[in-house]
Amino acid sequence: MTDAAIATPTQATTKYRKDYQPPTHLVDTLELEFDLAEEHTRVRSRMTLRENPARSDAGGELVLDGEALELVSVTVDGEKISDDRYQVGEETLTLTGLPTECVLEIEVVIEPQENTCFEGLYRSGPMFLTQCEAEGFRRITYFLDRPCVMARYTTTIRAERAAYPVLLSNGNLVDSGEDSDGRHWARWEDPFPKPSYLFALVAGDLHLHPGSFTTASGREVELRIYVEHLHADKCEHAMKCVMSAMRWDEETFGLEYDLDLYMIAATDKFNMGAMENKGLNIFNSALVLARPDTATDSDYERIEGVIGHEYFHNWTGNRVTCMDWFQLTLKEGLTVFRDQQFTADMTSHAVKRISDVRMLRAFQFPQDAGPMAHPIRPESYQEMSNFYTSTVYDKGAEVIRMYHTLLGAEGFRKGMDLYFERHDGSAVTCDDFRAAMGDANERDLLQFERWYLQAGTPVLEVEDSYDSETKRRTFTFTQSTPPTPGQDEKLPLHIPIVFGLIGPDGCDLPLRLVGEETAQGTTRTIELFEATQSVTFEDVPEGCVPSYLRGFSAPVELRCERTHGEYAFAMANDSDSFNRWEAGQQFAMELLVGMVEAIGRGEEPVLDPIFIEAWGVVLLDQELDPSLVSLALALPVEPYLSERFEVLDPGHVHEALEAAIVQLAEAHAEALREVRARCSTGEPYSADRESIGRRRLANLCLSYLSKLGEAGDLAACVAQFEGADNMTDSVAALACLSDVAGPEREGAFTSFYERWKDESLVVDKWFSQQAASDLPDTVERLVELVKHPDFTLKNPNRARSVLGVFGMGNAHHFHRVDGAGYRFLTDHLIEMDSLNPQVASRFITPLLKWKSLEPVRRELMRAELERIAAKDDLSKDVREKVSKALA
Ligand code: BES
Ligand code: ZN
Repeated sequence: MTDAAIATPTQATTKYRKDYQPPTHLVDTLELEFDLAEEHTRVRSRMTLRENPARSDAGGELVLDGEALELVSVTVDGEKISDDRYQVGEETLTLTGLPTECVLEIEVVIEPQENTCFEGLYRSGPMFLTQCEAEGFRRITYFLDRPCVMARYTTTIRAERAAYPVLLSNGNLVDSGEDSDGRHWARWEDPFPKPSYLFALVAGDLHLHPGSFTTASGREVELRIYVEHLHADKCEHAMKCVMSAMRWDEETFGLEYDLDLYMIAATDKFNMGAMENKGLNIFNSALVLARPDTATDSDYERIEGVIGHEYFHNWTGNRVTCMDWFQLTLKEGLTVFRDQQFTADMTSHAVKRISDVRMLRAFQFPQDAGPMAHPIRPESYQEMSNFYTSTVYDKGAEVIRMYHTLLGAEGFRKGMDLYFERHDGSAVTCDDFRAAMGDANERDLLQFERWYLQAGTPVLEVEDSYDSETKRRTFTFTQSTPPTPGQDEKLPLHIPIVFGLIGPDGCDLPLRLVGEETAQGTTRTIELFEATQSVTFEDVPEGCVPSYLRGFSAPVELRCERTHGEYAFAMANDSDSFNRWEAGQQFAMELLVGMVEAIGRGEEPVLDPIFIEAWGVVLLDQELDPSLVSLALALPVEPYLSERFEVLDPGHVHEALEAAIVQLAEAHAEALREVRARCSTGEPYSADRESIGRRRLANLCLSYLSKLGEAGDLAACVAQFEGADNMTDSVAALACLSDVAGPEREGAFTSFYERWKDESLVVDKWFSQQAASDLPDTVERLVELVKHPDFTLKNPNRARSVLGVFGMGNAHHFHRVDGAGYRFLTDHLIEMDSLNPQVASRFITPLLKWKSLEPVRRELMRAELERIAAKDDLSKDVREKVSKALA
């Protein structure tokens, strides 16, 4: 090994958005040939290259990306080139003296069986497969591995027929045949130019679940889902989802599928959820496989959302792609927005919106207030994998939603049409998208760019004043965005505030602005441009309650004064279902903050009776969609509540939440039992929306009841666990039992494992329920649990089921005051880093915000970060986050 080989991998280099340069060369076609083998896999590539007219300075030099490759040979126009015309670096292959146009052929050898980071070509059970986004293609062969280089691919795969009967890649199968020695081959051609990150290969002994779809214009598309044989009976739901996603994109955006074949392959070993490779999506098996007895209602819904998401990328991501990785939100924010709209149309707009905002507040808001805060279009990164974040995705989707709010559904559609008209087949930027939206609607969206430039969650303060003489009411909005790392000063954003006024009778008031002749509707969008801006309405009677940010029209934190009576009034009367929910949440937030402070002063935390009563009214409301009721009855998520404290004691936050739950359960025990009984119809399992809603509400009731410590409720958990004919009810009961020490708990976990030990995805649930447990000795139990023969860090889902769930979903024990939780996570994170840096890097999130903790935990957490930082050959991924956290 050379010195360079030892030095480079862990050295941090920062890449900047401003440094973008077009590539020196363009690649028109790329022919790949894989010789798959148990040990050495051979990859030959043949590319037609030409100098990029946009780069007159290339001078015949070409620098290709490559990692963990063994170079065998290089030829230019069929001739071996002399040693002095190429140079192999640690992560590059540099060629000099190239003619302006040529054919470059490269042969390398790789070892997919040794690949534990699951980027590039790797193995999972009976198959070979690839993951190339963001920079994994360079682990397959030397290439210009950046999204603005788009080429037409032809891929030939050779492998032993018996072990790998199925050979897949992007596009259409154009030829296949037999080699000698029991080997065979298949050749695939993708007619659409694409960046290397969309390349895919799958080879293995797989079951095919077939389907078909006729497009709006009458073309037949063959659909195929490939899974391991034992999962043959768990593909039906995913197939239905593909078809409804295809139909939805035609109906909503006029976008049809463009190849004759659409394939999904499912794997047990995958770093992410799923990947949109052209014509051959690869999915984490957790997001494909579903059968009522193995997957929960939430799993079913998530599968629909992710299948939609990857399918929608075919246009937003693949046909039009990103110019560089800084533009990631161009495809991800937009595609998340599209999958949210799809799910909303398939289920319920209110339920979907509320669930998404809950997630945004649980993950994105804390990120925007921590050491990794970044704009949705980052200005710099060390490791791109670290920027597949809730900010880029979820805040990115919120930004897209604001275009939709500002321009209306029709205007948004016009913008999308223009975007495809202008950019189909190319690699573009977020500015191009914004320009298309603006131009199609003749709107100036200049200031809107700041959403792409500034990090941090904006705070929106409202003051309002009323003149009973003139019946005018004035609202003054003041916006500010807190400083984030590297960004002290922020400029005012363009914020759409969807606004209404609820009259004293509970009905929305027609809204007339000063200067208008007549009222113009009851819900209006106020566009904020300035740091401080006022609006005045006429004819406003006394006692109206304002409703700000309907549908959560902007990703901001609203601060406004409200009385408890006004909260309760909005909970009952706001015509916007999101804001009815929001009133309950903000009311609860205010009370919970008070309870946490009370605990800090050594007082008993007591929940306000007005809230307890209003909560009871929602519980018994039979008019409402039970899914909506469940969301309204859930208290704010712990991370969102935690953001309210400058100095955080996670123990107090947890205690306040627990106290609130117990007080609600005590006050409404009978009603909870009644509602649960009403919702548990006893009918056999069905997956329609009605039944899903009823199960959700019944299980929410059960979880409140299980906190009461009553023998009867515990027996109900056991009975549900034993009698359930579906995974939703089974795992909900197990979750309740998991917090109650005793023979019922141990019995349930033992029988669950015995029943499901051969279903890996269900075993993940068995692990994660234990990782989420609230028993006093949870950490000690987890230390034992990871010695279980089924626990392994080599399977990302399994690692997440314990470490991800513990760190992100069990704040109480993670923040144990003796530091045992931090230590447990850190021990395994360090081990994971050597195997799979991408996944390890995600586990570090809960350790990053040590600075906001009370002094004891603060020191303990910092010490664990130092321990990680001190690891030899720490990955770039984890290094970037640790160093930003400790900075
Ligand atoms: N393109 C991503 C998958 C990806 C991300 C691959 C990062 C490699 C590195 C895909 O479209 C995606 O966003 N998947 C999400 C799920 C989606 C529903 C938000 C995922 O994998 O979590
Ligand atoms: Zn995506």
